[in-house]
Amino acid sequence: MSNVWPNSATRGTDGALCIAGVDVRDAAAQHGTPLFIFDEADVRARAREYRDAAERVGARKVYYAAKAFLSTAVARWVYEEGLGIDVASGGELAVALRAGIPGTDLLLHGNNKSMIEIEAALEAGVARIVVDSFEEIVRVADAAMRAGIVQPVLVRLTIGVEAHTHEFIATAHEDQKFGFSVASGAADEAIRRIVKLPSLEFRGLHSHIGSQIFDTDGFEEAAVRIVTFIDHLRTDQEVDVTELDLGGGMGIAYLPTDEPLSIDDLASHVALIVARECQSLGLAMPALAFEPGRAIVGPAGITVYEVGTVKPVELDDVVRTYVSVDGGMSDNIRTALYDAQYTIELASRTSNAELMLVRVVGKHCESGDIVVRDAYLPSDLVPGDLLAVAATGAYCRSMASNYNYLPKPAVVGVCDGNTSVVLRRETLDDLLALDPGA
Ligand code: LLP
Repeated sequence: MSNVWPNSATRGTDGALCIAGVDVRDAAAQHGTPLFIFDEADVRARAREYRDAAERVGARKVYYAAKAFLSTAVARWVYEEGLGIDVASGGELAVALRAGIPGTDLLLHGNNKSMIEIEAALEAGVARIVVDSFEEIVRVADAAMRAGIVQPVLVRLTIGVEAHTHEFIATAHEDQKFGFSVASGAADEAIRRIVKLPSLEFRGLHSHIGSQIFDTDGFEEAAVRIVTFIDHLRTDQEVDVTELDLGGGMGIAYLPTDEPLSIDDLASHVALIVARECQSLGLAMPALAFEPGRAIVGPAGITVYEVGTVKPVELDDVVRTYVSVDGGMSDNIRTALYDAQYTIELASRTSNAELMLVRVVGKHCESGDIVVRDAYLPSDLVPGDLLAVAATGAYCRSMASNYNYLPKPAVVGVCDGNTSVVLRRETLDDLLALDPGA
């Protein structure tokens, strides 16, 4: 099958889609639809690939960005393959700790960490806290002082690089909420304050320029600017930067025509630029870290939906068939939010019928509730058929909502013909339990 599907995806003898030897019809019958299916070996292989590429360039650590998708099982899969975990809230921290990940393999992010989150992170002994505001420097320093520890911190930079990606997921241009601007002098000032605080240990810098990036230009530009800043810190403040965390952002294939970078190419390219720039300025090379999220779990996950209605709509020049499935923007908001494009196939069987132009839509009360805007599916599609959407492992279940009181779908992991529950399906009772009047 094409590169958008999990590594182990095949078509069984009667044409149904199988992941890791599990027929999606069986998984759907057992766990209901919509259903997220993760190929465990695929997640593990991608984590290993990152770890190996990072090792080859002498990087210090790879932290899996948990926001892409998190459960205790997935935390353990990536940890067992040698990754740490980047958590961005007290909730993500709690899941990682429940999975048994030691604090020393965790890094805490967030542009508005609460005092409770900061204290929980300190108690867990998280390896790094990435500070994002002047208020937070004081909060972390105070909490560390009270706890009697010296907390290693990184400073999140805004370096003014425009990543070539959707505006909502680009994060290093000046006019946005993350980080300390280098250009304005805020980053300088942040470090000046941190080094004076005895309960904080300044370790280095962090930069995340955006997500779903397909070229090295942005990373390269970021690396050059950061090294210039490192040089400035040395001459201006006599401060050494020993670590540089370059965040995540590597794009994945959503369509068969997408050609993502290889992690080896990206890591070696970026490491080379940092090394070259450091050498030319006579600086020691900082230890690198990376925080991939999407690239670890995105391609390893699919969503299976059941077709409910098939409605041809006659337009001036074309008939567009609206195919409604039993989920939608509550389990995948990315199409509505970012105009994301996906690959979809008939999963429960194959068909030789002619193809028809379809728009696959959800069951929510919004016309923008689109799963796949334009696709071609067999014209003999009927209610009860199963459809599979590829590359939904990242930022789908983790961004799911209960819009229209839809319970969130189950997530199962498949491996060597076996299925295990990663997250059980929410029930209406789960939702009603929140309402004291129900
Ligand atoms: N590190 C930091 C500090 C981040 O903010 C992010 C993502 C990552 C790492 C991981 O980036 P990745 O390797 O997954 O690109 N909801 C959007 C993506 C938002 C990404 C937010 N930060 C989407 O569905 O495309």
